[in-house]
Amino acid sequence: MEKPRAVLFDAYGTLFDVYSVGLLAEQLFPGQGQALGLLWRDKQIEYTRLVTTSNDGAHYQPFWELTRAGLRYACKRLGIALGPEQEDRLMNQYRHLSAFPEVREVLQALKGRRVQTGILSNGDPGMLGVAVRSAGLEGLLDHVLSVDTIRKYKTHPEAYRLGTQATGLAARDVLFVSCNSWDALGATWFGYRTLWVNRYQLPFEELGTQPTRSGSSLRDVLAFFE
Ligand code: LAC
Repeated sequence: MEKPRAVLFDAYGTLFDVYSVGLLAEQLFPGQGQALGLLWRDKQIEYTRLVTTSNDGAHYQPFWELTRAGLRYACKRLGIALGPEQEDRLMNQYRHLSAFPEVREVLQALKGRRVQTGILSNGDPGMLGVAVRSAGLEGLLDHVLSVDTIRKYKTHPEAYRLGTQATGLAARDVLFVSCNSWDALGATWFGYRTLWVNRYQLPFEELGTQPTRSGSSLRDVLAFFE
């Protein structure tokens, strides 16, 4: 098997650690931070699917807005009274996420091997721009691709196609990396080679398709180049 010629990363939970959001949620609503974090994330992703599959995208909203809607829903569902100031603080925390500690060294190693690097994310360009800048990753990414340009969220094939278009490569020459099992599955179905980074020892999706490889940190990307 030829080595991949580009590596594209999912953003939230993959390059950027969303853990700090849960910490703040726990601080604001003691005893409910974990439940809120999980439900918030699930709703955010559920909303991306709702707006992508309904009425030819007529109800599309950028990821930032769906993230806010997911937060409001999750709070209502858990009986949490979310004030405007708390909402702002949680949303701001989402904007200023830190990158996982190994991100920089892995991107540098890929650059050293002259492999194209990029992000392919549901996040809208504003969110991604701030995250990339605050993590100091600007010079290490050739592509920062947002599905906002086509107004369809992953796992729609057009969303994954942004990666082949931007790199000018066939899907099998691209390695797609995600910590989200549904995203690794969608990318595998699209035709990418995939690495599912299973940071939290979770089961993979039970739909009959496996990612090309599984790993436990982003460093496992480099094994594709040995
Ligand atoms: C993203 C979300 C799905 O960055 O993690 O696309």
